[in-house]
Amino acid sequence: MPSFFETIKRPILALAPMAGYTESPFRTLVKEIEPSTLLISELLSARAFQYADPKTRRMAFFSPAEKPFGIQLFGSSIESFIAAAKVVEELGADFIDLNFGCPSPKVINSGNGSALLRDPCASAKMIEELVHSTKLPVTVKMRLGFYDDTMFQQTCVDFQNAGIQMLAVHGRTTQQKFSGSADWEPIYRVKESLTIPVLGNGDITSAEGAKARLQNLDGIMIGRAAVKNPWIFAQCRAAFKGNKIPSIPALKDQLRFFEKQAELAIEQKGERFALMELRKHLAQFVRGIEGAAQFRDRLIRVETQAELQEIFDEIRSAGQTQDDV
Ligand SMILES: Cc1cc2nc3c(=O)[nH]c(=O)nc-3n(C[C@H](O)[C@H](O)[C@H](O)COP(=O)(O)O)c2cc1C
Repeated sequence: MPSFFETIKRPILALAPMAGYTESPFRTLVKEIEPSTLLISELLSARAFQYADPKTRRMAFFSPAEKPFGIQLFGSSIESFIAAAKVVEELGADFIDLNFGCPSPKVINSGNGSALLRDPCASAKMIEELVHSTKLPVTVKMRLGFYDDTMFQQTCVDFQNAGIQMLAVHGRTTQQKFSGSADWEPIYRVKESLTIPVLGNGDITSAEGAKARLQNLDGIMIGRAAVKNPWIFAQCRAAFKGNKIPSIPALKDQLRFFEKQAELAIEQKGERFALMELRKHLAQFVRGIEGAAQFRDRLIRVETQAELQEIFDEIRSAGQTQDDV
C-alpha cells in the first residue's frame, strides 16, 4: 500500500507547527486559502495525553476541514508516546508527528524535543517501538543536530529505518536556536539517501524563495512568514506551477481574515480567551500598516469582538494602505 504521504499533492506545502500561533482557527483559514496545505498541531505533551489532561485535549482540537491532520507530540518516554498515540487515534487525526526540534530550555531540560537528538540510536529504537504500536503513520520534525550536524545524515537514515513516513527538517542546530540562517545543504544531501518524503524548513519568506529552495526535496514547511502572510501557501502553489504569483489581497480582505479568525476562535474558546490569543496575530499584522502604532497599541489590548470590529472599521475608513506584509 502506498504511504499516505505519497498521495499528498507535490510539492508538499506544510504550515510549520508554532506554539501559540497555529491554533485551529488560523490553520482552518490557511487551508481555506490554499486547500493543499498540510497542517500539524503545535507540540503537545505525550505525558499530558497519557494522563488525560483536559487542557491538552482542548489544545489538540482540530476541525474536519483541517484534515489530513497531524498531531505533534513531544516527550521522551516510550510509555507516554504509546499511550498518547492511542488518544491521537481516538481523536481521528491522520498522523503522529514527533517533535525532535524544540530548543526551549523548558522542553530540552527534561530530555524532550531536540534533546532526543543527542542520542539518535536510543531515539530510533523508541520510534521503532512507537511505529509498531500504532495504526497511524509516524513522522518526525527535527533540527540538524543538537550541537552540530555531524550525526545528521546517519540519524535521518536510522529514523527512516525505524519506520517514519515523512521527515521535516529545520536547517539549524539546537544551539543556534533562531540565530544565523537556516542551512538547507545538509537537507538536500540527506534526501539523496532517503526514500521517504523530506520537507525543508527555515527562513522561507516568499514564494520565489520557496521555489528556489525546493531543489530535490518533496516539499517545504513555512512558519513565521505565514503568520504575517497566510496567503503565502497559495502564492507558493502558483510559483511551483509556474503561474503568476497572486498578490496579497487588498487590506479589506486581509481584515476579513482576522474577523473570521476571531469568529472561529470565539466559537471554540469564548470571547475573552479567543481575543487574548488573537492579539499576537494582530500585532504581527499591523506591523506592515502605515500609521500602525496607534492601531497596534489598541489591537494588542483588544478584549471584545465589538472593540475589534470598531478598530477594523477605523482602519478601513482611514483607507490605510499596506506595505508588503
Ligand atoms: C513561536 C514559535 C513556536 C514554535 N512552535 C513549534 C512547535 O510547537 N513545534 C515545532 O516542531 N516547531 C515549532 N516552532 C518551529 C517552527 O515550526 C519552524 O521550525 C521554525 O520557525 C523555522 O521555520 P520558519 O523560518 O519558516 O519560521 C516554533 C517556532 C516559533 C517561532
